[in-house]
Amino acid sequence: MTVKTTTFGLAALAVGAALAAVAARADPPAPAPAGPWMNTRLSPDQRAGLLLRAMTLDEEIVLVHGSSGIPLLPGVPKGALGSAGYVPGVPRLGIPALQESDASLGVANPFFVRPHDGATPLPSGLSTAATWNPELAYRGGAMIGSEAWKKGFNVLLAGGANLARDPRNGRNFEYLGEDPLLAGTLAGAAIRGIQDQHVVSTTKHFALNDQETGRMVLDARIDPAAFRESDLLAFELAIEGGRPGSVMCAYNRVGGANACGNDPLLNGVLKGDWKYPGWVMSDWGAVHAVDDAVHGLDQESGQQIDKQVYFDKPLKAAVEAGQVPRARLDDMVRRILRSMFTEGLFDHPPVKSDIDYGADAAVAQAVAEQGTVLLKNDGVLPLAKTAKRILVVGGHADVGVLSGGGSSQVEPVGGPALQIHMPGGGGMAMFRTAVYDPSSPLKAIRAAAPGAQVDYVDGTDPKAAAEAAKGADVVVVFAVQWLMEGYDAANLSLPDGQDGLIAAVAAANPHTIVVLETGDPVLMPWLAQVPAVLEAWYPGARGGEAIAAILFGDVNPSGRLPISFPASEAQLPRPTIPGAGLPETTPFVVDYPEGADVGYRGFEARGQKPLCPFGYGLSYTRFAYSDLKVTGGDTIRVSFTVKNVGDQAGMETAQVYAAHTGQRTGQLPLIGWKKVALRPGESQRVTVVADPRSIGHFDAAARRWGLGGRYNVGVGGWSDSIRLIDAADITPRTIAP
Ligand code: BGC
Repeated sequence: MTVKTTTFGLAALAVGAALAAVAARADPPAPAPAGPWMNTRLSPDQRAGLLLRAMTLDEEIVLVHGSSGIPLLPGVPKGALGSAGYVPGVPRLGIPALQESDASLGVANPFFVRPHDGATPLPSGLSTAATWNPELAYRGGAMIGSEAWKKGFNVLLAGGANLARDPRNGRNFEYLGEDPLLAGTLAGAAIRGIQDQHVVSTTKHFALNDQETGRMVLDARIDPAAFRESDLLAFELAIEGGRPGSVMCAYNRVGGANACGNDPLLNGVLKGDWKYPGWVMSDWGAVHAVDDAVHGLDQESGQQIDKQVYFDKPLKAAVEAGQVPRARLDDMVRRILRSMFTEGLFDHPPVKSDIDYGADAAVAQAVAEQGTVLLKNDGVLPLAKTAKRILVVGGHADVGVLSGGGSSQVEPVGGPALQIHMPGGGGMAMFRTAVYDPSSPLKAIRAAAPGAQVDYVDGTDPKAAAEAAKGADVVVVFAVQWLMEGYDAANLSLPDGQDGLIAAVAAANPHTIVVLETGDPVLMPWLAQVPAVLEAWYPGARGGEAIAAILFGDVNPSGRLPISFPASEAQLPRPTIPGAGLPETTPFVVDYPEGADVGYRGFEARGQKPLCPFGYGLSYTRFAYSDLKVTGGDTIRVSFTVKNVGDQAGMETAQVYAAHTGQRTGQLPLIGWKKVALRPGESQRVTVVADPRSIGHFDAAARRWGLGGRYNVGVGGWSDSIRLIDAADITPRTIAP
């Protein structure tokens, strides 16, 4: 049951405060004194060292804590732009303030407190992941980074790299799927895109924030080696590929200790083994003690949300009393300054300037076009542009496309097409508004088939929809699943009786195509009844246009699933979400006995067949694989030929899987892929070189990866459809993380 409103309840309350915050924007940044640290010939480390030496203790303390910049909370400093976070700078030394915005899918605007400051919403993270295209992930990041810079932001809370361990996780739409190689590679590319715009990006939420239920109190437990091979590998690759200036630690506990005060994770893995040189910022409300500084946390964020502001007076007192070494405080500040110098925050400060939203929407559309996954096609697609009567049903497709909620919510340029207040309580209740981006699939379908009569029914009455479907040549049903930060999906089913709607319409008209706009995988009890299904995720600024382009064949679908679609909740390692039904403050343990066998690897290990496998997706053309050559040695090198043997141009995502013959049974993990665009009849030789970690096992005691011996190698279009098989011998060796 949903209630339509025209505005966010809280946004209405906040108008006065928001306007005050906007007025505060007028302050010009202080001119930077020409200290020796402004010499751009010096390295960021040298510059940070020089600046640090010029700072007083109080000035150092200023840099290591910050507040929420949302003017709905008390204590938002003057000068904050109206966004997730603000850390005042030190004008005496020309240290700029950190203006931090959420940015998982675009420059966020929490509660729309910056009135009319819209931004371009990218499709959801799962859509970007479904493109399997690092270049598009980069372009998406660059688009967000450049909009942020032109709006005055210099830090983006982006780079979500948590693995989709649970297909009901309410934030999977901000992340990049269930495979560490895919997620880490694409997160790295997106972070690089952001930081190439002189904006610091985070990667987040470090680590094992893999469900939203009880995220503030749950204790995630996993075998240390399996941790390195799964969730930590995704972060390791994201950090290597993107070099984010900051890492945001998570709300939850990991192995008994809070993620933001977790010595083994922050000092041991991140700063020790990985030699991470940037700074660790907390999630908002994730700091629990001054001692977190000793355990590896460098900066307290959103301090109003913590029980007390730990990294201001209490930290200063602890430094003065020698409980926290001064050298530790210096290290915290040096790390922050180093990233600020590295990413150009001193040399290329943001300049408020015009944004080409048309060009940016084209980036969002390109992602949606390559990220939409064709799950079923009995030949009904692509639709003939000569169809006479088309019926569009449901999903508010007459006005727009759905987006996901929470801190990542983007206010689309021009304002939302529709806002629906969603009932529900909990700590994030004030965010419970579903926002539709103004890109109407109905309009796009009408534009693609100008000769057709295209009607719309909203689908609230399945009988009426079925009746209307009877006279149509083709019916397109839009089904939606709204998810938001702070809540997991209760189950894998489409909500609000939409399964019944689809079944009723499909029974009335066999030419019924289903378009899913979901934040997560869903069950499809009506699958056998419909000839075609498209998974469009949350498709962003031009989602309607992208969907229509695929339906009518102007774009050949090339998305591949970055997450398995289970056949039932019973297939999951935790059929019931741990902590479900508990009060938000009651601690509990989440065990991950599946270890590194996340998603598809787990399905195979448990001998289960998912509804749709990882890596899966159809095309309007066909591809053939041949001439596999596999060599071993230090790592696996694979080459093979992919040919377009159909009659339309298209893109294939050639995937390579491999595992040690003796160590793993079941599904081989992904070790690489290449997306290739081929005209009909065209072929291309593809080479994939495995990152040794993707075929290695982590030795937790030695803190090193080990590999060596014989490996099976499989190549094909998706994990369940290996077309070519061979083996490679790897020389035994160990490598440092
Ligand atoms: C989220 C973070 C976000 C932060 C600031 C938290 O609730 O977990 O992803 O960056 O808020 O808005």
